[in-house]
Amino acid sequence: MENRSQWGSRLGFLLAAMGSAIGLGNIWRFPAVAYENGGGAFFIPYLFALLTAGIPMLIMEFTIGHKYRSSAPRALKRISGGMEWIGWWQIAISFVISTYYPVIVAWASMYAYFSFSQAWGNNPESFFMNDFLNRTDPGTFGSIVPSVLWPMIIIWVIVFVILFRGVNKGIELANRIFIPLLLICFLLIVIRAVTLPGAFTGLEAFFAPDWSSIMDGSVWVSAYAQIFFSLSIGFAIMVTFSSYLPKKSDITNNAFITGFSNSSFELLAGIGVFAALGFMAAQTGQEVSEVVEGGVGLAFVVFPEIVSQMPASGLFGFLFFASLVLAGMSSMVSISETYIAGVQEKFNVSRRTSVLIGVGFASVVSLLFATQGGLVLLDTVDYFINNYGIALAGLIQVVGIAWFARELNNLQAHADSVSDILLGSWWQFSLRFITPLVLGYMMIQNLRTDMTSDYSGYPSEFLFNFGWMVAIGAMIFGVFITMKKWPNEK
Ligand code: PHE
Repeated sequence: MENRSQWGSRLGFLLAAMGSAIGLGNIWRFPAVAYENGGGAFFIPYLFALLTAGIPMLIMEFTIGHKYRSSAPRALKRISGGMEWIGWWQIAISFVISTYYPVIVAWASMYAYFSFSQAWGNNPESFFMNDFLNRTDPGTFGSIVPSVLWPMIIIWVIVFVILFRGVNKGIELANRIFIPLLLICFLLIVIRAVTLPGAFTGLEAFFAPDWSSIMDGSVWVSAYAQIFFSLSIGFAIMVTFSSYLPKKSDITNNAFITGFSNSSFELLAGIGVFAALGFMAAQTGQEVSEVVEGGVGLAFVVFPEIVSQMPASGLFGFLFFASLVLAGMSSMVSISETYIAGVQEKFNVSRRTSVLIGVGFASVVSLLFATQGGLVLLDTVDYFINNYGIALAGLIQVVGIAWFARELNNLQAHADSVSDILLGSWWQFSLRFITPLVLGYMMIQNLRTDMTSDYSGYPSEFLFNFGWMVAIGAMIFGVFITMKKWPNEK
């Protein structure tokens, strides 16, 4: 594997890892999760999760990629033949996510444009659901929505070009542009937001600690879930990215830098979002608690309202949606790279062929999410693939490595041989006990909820077909493709 692609510099790798980690999860997920789980007090479980699961897992994935220098399934196979399927399972999960993520980026890019005219008028919710998405009843698809389709095609073309140009001239270069731009856009938003009237009330609501929440198990689970999603762990991404590191590269330090940069951006997003929410509450005479939202509701309903209430607000709206686009694009590229690398190695095709196949296939599937029923489908697939994909695959991966393959000593020796910071016993302890216990507990809780009630009240049959089946299908695919032999393997 001597001619394996490589990052051009340490910064290039770091920017790509940060680009993957800093995504929609930072901007629209973290602020609401922190607020709902104890506000200022949430930082304790959050930091704990970062140090006992996030960074340890990141170090583990970086080390696996760096040591075994291959795509996730092949690297896992090199650790133990019985683990290859986990890598494919993660790749299948990443593939699924890569079919709906560009749809959200497409919405955001249209909204960046809408910001100037405030096309959503005085009812952003109805505009989003009825005028923009032309939404149909849950469980039906209707037809493709052109105003989503066109921006999505452009996004796919950009993703295609970036991946086609390769690791160094494509992914690295793109992140060198995306990340600084994102930082500038987002800093401008935060500065504007904190100087709005009412901003302080919003920040107060965000940081006010509810200490009793620390005793609540579900708050801890939320902290771990946020860290996992936000650091792109369990997606096969970080293994793939670190497989392109030159032999002499620091691992542990890079993991700390990635982890802390990602969390800093989350904190910054929390400040920006809550300052803006405080402004909105002040303008409408509501409590901050009444206007808090996360996810799609925050970005496409609440933010447009905030924009409408601001003086000279076109630019503010544009910057907010441009940030979503930039953060989303670099995550999108990272997630697609997992299957590009996997297909390239398993089928022994050139990188370019693999990009054609991967992006071609993913973009066709993504059309389903550009339909009138796309939002409900996206919500369902996202929920199930996160809970029974990423979290479960992450759990099985860490248990496989720590307990079955008993690989932690080897990995620690490898990481220590190239890194400035040496790993202490906290690393092995975290991966052996803390991460599996928390993830296992989380899994049981989720199963309990989803076995007894229909997620979001959607029709059961729809949830079965597009929730459970997609999540289980990804796992079956993993097992299935493992049966095919690698090139030059007898
Ligand atoms: N870390 C990303 C985020 O915070 C998660 C992600 C990565 C999602 C890659 C999709 C693709 O949004």
